[in-house]
Amino acid sequence: MTDLLVSDVDGFRKEAEAARARLRSDPQCPQYHFTAPSNWLNDPNGLIQWNGTYHLFYQHNPFTPLSATKHWGHAMSTDLVHWTDLPIALAPTPDSCDADGIYSGCAVDDNGTPTILYSGVRGPLQMVCLATGDDQLLRWTKSSENPVVPDFPPDLEILTTDEGKVHYRDPSVWRENGTWWMIVGSGISDVGGTVLLYRSLDLRSWEYVRPLLVGDMNQRDPFWTGTMWECPQLFALDGKHVLLISVWHERRTLFPAYITGTYKDGHFLPEYSGIIDPGSHYAPQTFRDAQGRRILFGWLREQRSSEALASSDWNGAMTLPWILRLSEDGSLRYSPAPELATLRGEHQHLTDLTVNSAESMPLLGVNGDCLELQTTIDTGTADTLGMVIRRSPDGSEQTRIVYEPGSGKLYIDRERSSLKQQGDVTPHHTKLELVNGELLRLRVFLDRSVIEVVGNDRTLLSERIYPSRTDSLGTSLFAAGNSIKVEVLDVWEIGPSIT
Ligand code: FRU
Repeated sequence: MTDLLVSDVDGFRKEAEAARARLRSDPQCPQYHFTAPSNWLNDPNGLIQWNGTYHLFYQHNPFTPLSATKHWGHAMSTDLVHWTDLPIALAPTPDSCDADGIYSGCAVDDNGTPTILYSGVRGPLQMVCLATGDDQLLRWTKSSENPVVPDFPPDLEILTTDEGKVHYRDPSVWRENGTWWMIVGSGISDVGGTVLLYRSLDLRSWEYVRPLLVGDMNQRDPFWTGTMWECPQLFALDGKHVLLISVWHERRTLFPAYITGTYKDGHFLPEYSGIIDPGSHYAPQTFRDAQGRRILFGWLREQRSSEALASSDWNGAMTLPWILRLSEDGSLRYSPAPELATLRGEHQHLTDLTVNSAESMPLLGVNGDCLELQTTIDTGTADTLGMVIRRSPDGSEQTRIVYEPGSGKLYIDRERSSLKQQGDVTPHHTKLELVNGELLRLRVFLDRSVIEVVGNDRTLLSERIYPSRTDSLGTSLFAAGNSIKVEVLDVWEIGPSIT
C-alpha cells in the first residue's frame, strides 16, 4: 500500500464530502444506509470497535461503479449511525500477492495492534494476507511475510472454476485461550460449500486443522447451500455458536445463511439452519461491541440494470446495523440498533384503524421516501394484507409489502415500483408464521431505493426499488379476503446519516 492513501486525510474528506453532496441529490441513492462516497461498494469488512469508535471497512472499487479492482474503503462512527469517511485503508500492490485485489476479511486486536487478515488475489489465486494498523486505524502496513497462507490445503479438491480460479477466501479470525483460530470460505469440488479451520499462535504462521463444516450440494432441504461458501464467520451467541455463510454458485451470489450449533475445540456440531434474508442482502459480517451486542451489517446489492449502473455515481449500500439474538429453537432474532432513533424526525402516531377487505386506506400526511414505519396488525381472517409505499397519486407507481397469513409468506411486490423499471423484479419470499393469535409486527425502513423489513423480530427481508416519479411518496394500507385491524402505526421521517 502507498502512503498516498492516507497522507492527506482532510483532502480526502473534502473530496468525499463533495461526492456525497452529489449522491444526496440522486433520488435513488439511500440517505441513511451507508454507501461508498462514490463508485462501487460490496461486503462489509473488518468490523471492529476500537477505543470506543466503530470502524466499518468495505469492499470498494474507487474507480468505477462496477465490481473490479477491490480495495478496502473505510468509515468511522461513534454511534453506528452517523459515519465519517476516511481514506482507503488497503489497495492492491502491483506484482505482489494482492496485485489483483484486496478481498474480504476481518480485523482483530492483537494485544493492542489493530490487525487485518484479508484475501489477497493474484491471477487465479486467493491467499490469506495480513496488515497491521496505527492506533487511528488509518495507516496500514502489509506484512513482509505475506501471504501468511499461500495456498489451500493440498489434500483437498478445492473448487476451481473454468477460468482456473481457485475458490478460497475471506478469512475470519478469533482468539480463544491464547490460540488464534481462523476460518476460510471455500468449496470442495462436487461435494459442496466448505469452511476450512486453521490455528496459529501469532496470526502469521498457520496450521490447517480440518474442514469445520462441509455442505452437501445435492441437499435441498431446508434450503440449497450452493457449491461454495463465502464470508464465513463463527461467533458465540446466547449460549450457542452461530456460523454465518454466504451461499455462492457459479458466479452467482445467492443469499446469506446461518447454522446454529455447538462449537468446542475446533469441532462444530450443526443443530439448526436458516436463511438470513433472501432479498438483496449478501455477505454479512458481525462484531461484538463494548456493550456486548452482536451487531450485523450486510451488503445490499443493487437490482438495477447493468446499463443504469454503468452511468451511476454509486453502487451498493450497507444494511442497517442489526442486533442479533438467538431464540430457544436456534433461530436468529433481529432488531435494529436503537441508535437509529436519533435519525427520526416528524412523527405520526395512528391507532385502531380498520382496513376493510378489498379496500385501500391512504395514509394522508404520511409521505416520503425516507421513512421508518412500525406497525402492529391483527390480521384476523384476511387472505392478504399489507402496506403500500412510494405510491404516486394515480397509483401508476407503487410498491407493496405483502403478507399472507395462510401461507406465512412475506414479500415485496415490485411489479409497479417503477414506470421505467429496468431490473429483475421477481419477489423474494420469506416465511413468517404467526402462532397462537400472535399479532403481525412489521418494521419497515424505506430509504429511497432501499427497503428493509423485519417481521416479528425473526424475519428479515430487503429489496431495492427505483421509482421514476418524484411524486411517488404516498403510503397506504390494504387488505383482501377480510378486514384487518391496525392496532398501532408509527411513522417517522428519517434524516440523512452521513457527515
Ligand atoms: C462476497 C465476495 C467475497 C470476496 C469479495 C470480493 O460478496 O465475493 O467472497 O472476498 O466479495 O469483492
